[in-house]
Amino acid sequence: MFCSRNARPFASGWLMISAGCLLAGLILGNLAFAEDPPLSIRDRLKVQTLLKLSDVDLSDKPDLKGLVVRYARSQMATDSAKFFELTEKFSLTELSPELANLIATSTDDTQKVTAAKLLLKFGDSDQLKTLLSNTDKNADVAAINAIGMTADASAQPLLEPIVLDGQRTVAARSSAVAALGRTGPGQKWLLSMVEQGKLAKELNFAAANVLLTSADESVKTAASKHLMLPATADSKPLPPVSELVQRKGDAEKGRMVFTGIGLCAKCHKVKGEGKEVGPDLSEIGSKLSRDAMYVSILDPSAGVNFNYETHTLLTEDGTVVSGIIVSQTDAEVVIKTAEAVQLTFERDAITGMKKSPISLMPQDLQKQLTVDNLVDVVEYLSTLKKPE
Ligand code: HEC
Repeated sequence: MFCSRNARPFASGWLMISAGCLLAGLILGNLAFAEDPPLSIRDRLKVQTLLKLSDVDLSDKPDLKGLVVRYARSQMATDSAKFFELTEKFSLTELSPELANLIATSTDDTQKVTAAKLLLKFGDSDQLKTLLSNTDKNADVAAINAIGMTADASAQPLLEPIVLDGQRTVAARSSAVAALGRTGPGQKWLLSMVEQGKLAKELNFAAANVLLTSADESVKTAASKHLMLPATADSKPLPPVSELVQRKGDAEKGRMVFTGIGLCAKCHKVKGEGKEVGPDLSEIGSKLSRDAMYVSILDPSAGVNFNYETHTLLTEDGTVVSGIIVSQTDAEVVIKTAEAVQLTFERDAITGMKKSPISLMPQDLQKQLTVDNLVDVVEYLSTLKKPE
């Protein structure tokens, strides 16, 4: 096979192979992948018989293995359970690219996690590393979260460097902290980084949430010497997110916090009201879990939406403006500031433009709010659902 594995996110087709992988790949790009030709009835029977046997080793039977790979791939879209079963049973490492693709694009958490578990089991760290460094549309964050949900300690060597890499987004690094926090050895490593002062301060919130709620008392006690959750308006430290999600709030009071002291409506629209600096939240209750809502509010940089990255512009006369890019052409750049003001700059007058890892949403909103205010606002957001 002369196609590189990475070049085939989906099924490689007979068309591509017959026409020459490189050429067809160039023509088809990412848009179209030809299907494998369907298996003949005889071949299907062969695979189904194999499935019934235990202890089948296909390593010295390439033809048969090829059939199984094709069969598994054909099941991917329609019967993912069968796809995973075959991939696991026959250790079909050939399907690593398909697994990676599922992790990056599936909307089903169970699929993502099953795929991540298999890739970890196959020990295919190249495939995983490629996935974890794909920052296009935050695919890296999706992959880190999926790997985290496996709670598989063998992922630790892949996650540790992400936490320590200052070049990565806060979203990716915070997700890696949360992922490591799901295993005992991961927590111990995080704690040691905290104790040695090696954890960047923008990751404190994520680290505090996992370490201060550890089931291991010694980890909890040691962490509390270094980490604290931010204080709220009632000057009590915030309870950890895992505790907040258990509380029930008052949605009507939450609506008032949203438009009043919370300042949320200065940046978010709900059903046509409010300003639009950040995303419209009219249907946020269908998009985010309570857990994710708390993180979005309390640690905004940990979950920056790729359409809402903050950019900082520097102009010839020394003006510095931060905001979200609304549009840009060769002639000009339009940027929206945190006050929902749109400013237009001539391209020629711009001397520098930088993407910032920090969300335009303020990092310390909880300072204005009591714990009850916060619980109420999340209750309110949870009621904002897509119409059925
Ligand atoms: C200065 C503007 C600003 C204020 C004030 C603000 N936000 Fe945001 N918010 C943003 C921006 C910009 C984003 C998108 C970038 C990001 O995800 O951090 C965002 C993202 C969010 C998200 C995630 C949305 C998604 O689709 O993932 C939620 C939830 C949210 N904000 C809730 C709130 C609440 C609740 C308040 C008030 C307590 C608030 N925001 C105040 C600007 C703001």
